Amino acid sequence: MIIAIDGPAGAGKSTVTRLLANRLGFLFLDTGAMYRAVTLLALENHIALDDTARLADLAREIDLRFDGDVVFINGEDRSAEIRTPEVTRKIKTVADAVDVREHLVALQRKIAATGNFVSEGRDQGTVAFPNADCKIYLTASTRFRAIRRALQLKEAGKNVTVEEVISDINIRDYNDENRPVGRLMKAEDAIEVNTDNKTVEDVVDELEQIVKDRIANLADNSITPA
Ligand code: DC
Repeated sequence: MIIAIDGPAGAGKSTVTRLLANRLGFLFLDTGAMYRAVTLLALENHIALDDTARLADLAREIDLRFDGDVVFINGEDRSAEIRTPEVTRKIKTVADAVDVREHLVALQRKIAATGNFVSEGRDQGTVAFPNADCKIYLTASTRFRAIRRALQLKEAGKNVTVEEVISDINIRDYNDENRPVGRLMKAEDAIEVNTDNKTVEDVVDELEQIVKDRIANLADNSITPA
């Protein structure tokens, strides 16, 4: 089974989808980590970020493995390095490159074929898994997303204003919604869940119920009347 979860940065996707996967006994696929891994390798290998042919080669050849939250690139744990602000700032051309996306979507499908997955990203319900068993579009208002992000940064010892974070979020939303392929959008058959004013626990409960209802529905529809 595949549960596809898409939505903008800061809606709480990665936290709640990890917890949801645990509750369901599913594996978890963080597809943003794949674009981050290609960006990290491009920076380390001094590949120009507009050289889409070499970026595509990297995406085709990358040896990427996941073990829970740990991301291995070429056998090494690079979980922290893929999440630096520099990688986040420079990811745009990698995520925009059509051939990179083709290779990474192929890898996502290959991984997903090995078990039951909750897969999280921007294009999971639209491009990677259009036939997913359940699709959820997780969203939140810009202000809530910014407040959450500012609190995370404060915990990490960085003081930024909510207004500064809002301007960052607007740029990321624009990039996510305007890429040529795999742009962020709600699949027609996705259920939208807004996380404003909800605790993580509330959101996970809500998603678990949506998935369980959907699975029950699929089971009912597969019983053909005599
Ligand atoms: O979810 P995240 O912040 O780790 O994602 C990192 C970047 O990768 C983000 O800017 C959008 C991009 N991305 C994408 O284009 N398609 C996906 N399926 C997942 C992430």
